[in-house]
Amino acid sequence: MKKELIFEGNEKRIYAVEDPHRVIFHYNDVIVAYNNVKRARLRGKGILTNKISAVLLGYLNGCGIPTHFIERLDDREQLCRKIEIIPLEVVVHNRMAGTLAAKLGVEDGFKPANTIVDLCYNNDELGDPLVNRDQAVALGLATYEELELILSMARRAGKLLTELFHKAGIELVDTKIEFGRASDTGEIIISDEISPDTCRLWDEKTQERLDKDRFRLDLGDVISAYTQVLERLESI
Ligand code: C5P
Repeated sequence: MKKELIFEGNEKRIYAVEDPHRVIFHYNDVIVAYNNVKRARLRGKGILTNKISAVLLGYLNGCGIPTHFIERLDDREQLCRKIEIIPLEVVVHNRMAGTLAAKLGVEDGFKPANTIVDLCYNNDELGDPLVNRDQAVALGLATYEELELILSMARRAGKLLTELFHKAGIELVDTKIEFGRASDTGEIIISDEISPDTCRLWDEKTQERLDKDRFRLDLGDVISAYTQVLERLESI
């Protein structure tokens, strides 16, 4: 397939293809944390995030939540629908961990009775600040109607992913979900990746961390944790 590089990020590259409404996502081995301050190259990481993301996005598609994912092409690439980016990050928290726990002064991993959904402005220079709906509309990021849909899709996706991971003996602690407008139809769809790079995943029995926190907190064994996530998802 003829490809033209249109975006080069830390952890992935995006290529345009002949069909103007399709792109190819290429996952590489770079891992970054703390707004790109900490970075490394971990051999094989991109293969794992590509495969895990394909499983999770394909599962959401199958559950009737549209995502940009069409099919995995090989170890590192997947064919996706082209989108217009909506610069928001929606984080669904089943537990309070990381930044949220630190900000609100609760123990890392505190489990509230309710699910928490945070809307953030995706802007690295500003550190992805929390925004409310009025602020998001004022910035022209989305309309009120689109936000309504985005938040309800994020909640449903969070619930479905929680159920799927539970079948694999993994607890979904939190997950970050991004959205875009499909370039052909304009419909709101989930975009970008969903993987241990964008979720907190704990082993249900041991509470061992199986996600990017292994890199953030220098716990080691990042690749074997990601491999475990893939193998457990593939076994259900
Ligand atoms: O960093 P924080 O604790 O707010 O992250 C909450 C969740 O969102 C984590 O699973 C983290 O991996 C994910 N996240 C992300 N990309 C960001 C910020 C957070 O994938 N830019």
